[in-house]
Amino acid sequence: MSAPPKNLSILPLGALFKSLASLGLVLFLFCISLQETPHYQPSHILASLKWPTSSPLNHPPTTNTSHIVFGIVGSMNTWSHKKSYVKSWWRSNITRGYLFLDRHPTMEFLPWPNSSYPSFRVNEDITKRKSYSKVKRPDQIRMVRTVLEMFREDDKDVRWFVMADDDTILFVDNLVEVLAKYDHTKYLYIGANSECVKSNFDFSFNMAFGGGGYALSYPLAAALGTMMDKCIQRYINLWVSDFMLYSCLTDLGVHLTHQKGFHQVYKCVCDIVFSIS
Ligand SMILES: *[C@@H]1O[C@H](CO)[C@@H](O)[C@H](O)[C@H]1NC(C)=O
Ligand SMILES: *[C@@H]1O[C@H](CO)[C@@H](O)[C@H](O)[C@H]1NC(C)=O
Ligand SMILES: *[C@@H]1O[C@H](CO)[C@@H](O)[C@H](O)[C@H]1NC(C)=O
Repeated sequence: MSAPPKNLSILPLGALFKSLASLGLVLFLFCISLQETPHYQPSHILASLKWPTSSPLNHPPTTNTSHIVFGIVGSMNTWSHKKSYVKSWWRSNITRGYLFLDRHPTMEFLPWPNSSYPSFRVNEDITKRKSYSKVKRPDQIRMVRTVLEMFREDDKDVRWFVMADDDTILFVDNLVEVLAKYDHTKYLYIGANSECVKSNFDFSFNMAFGGGGYALSYPLAAALGTMMDKCIQRYINLWVSDFMLYSCLTDLGVHLTHQKGFHQVYKCVCDIVFSIS
C-alpha cells in the first residue's frame, strides 16, 4: 500500500542532464586547449578584444583657456580701486574677454592698457529704449544684459562664458580644469550658491552669484540671447541682476549645476558671526 516515492521517475532525467553538462565541459576545455597559445597571458585576450577606439571627431580637444570668454561687469565710478583685482588674474593674449562698463573710460584711464586688462565695452544704454525707460534700477538690467552683449561679440570657438564682477578674483587654471569636466554642448549653468545663508534665503538656494562668478555653456548663452529682453520685462520687479538671470534660466528649464569652488564671500557672513557671539 505504500506509494512509490514521487521523485523516482525524475531521477534518470537528472542523471542525463548531469552527464550532458559534464560532456559539455569536457568539450569546452578541449576546444580551449586547441586554441591556446604557447605563452598564454590573460592580457593577450584583452589586447585582442577590439574596444571602440576614441576618434578625434567623437572627442573634441579638452577644454583649455582659449575656449572661455570672460565677461566682467564693472563701473567707471569704481574702476580705479577695482582694477587691481582684474589685473591680478588677467593674462595678456591668453585670457579672452571684455570688461563691460556703464560709460566710456575717462581720460585718466586712456589709452586703455590692453595688456593688463580685458578690452572694455560700454553696455548699451537701455534707458533710451522705450520698454526700459521707466525702470528703477537700470544698472541691474545692464548687468543681466551683459550676457547678451557678450554673446553678440560673436567670438569663435567659445565653449563657456564666465561671468564675474570686477572685484572677483579668478584662478584661471583651476576654473579651466573644472569646466573641462562638463559637456559644453549641453545647456549648463554652473556656479555655487552664496556662503551667506541670508542671500540664498532672500533669492534662491539654486542661484549663482556674479560676485562668486558662474559659467554658462555656449548653447545656453545662445538660448538666453533669443529671449533675454522679453524675460527681463517679465521679471523687471525682481531688480537684482543675478536673480533676474536665474529666473530667465529657470524659464528655460535650466537649473544650477552646483560646483564647489565659486565663492561668494559676503559681508553678512561676518554679520552672522557677530550676531551669534
Ligand atoms: C586649446 O584647444 C584648441 C582646440 O580647440 C587648440 O587649437 C589650442 O592650441 C589649445 N590651446 C592651448 C593653449 O592648449
Ligand atoms: C600680445 O600680442 C600683441 C600682438 O598681438 C603683442 O604686441 C604683445 O606683445 C603681446 N603681449 C604679450 C604679453 O605677450
Ligand atoms: C585695445 O583696446 C581698444 C579699446 O577697447 C580696442 O579698440 C583694441 O582693439 C584693443 N586692442 C587689442 C589688441 O586688444
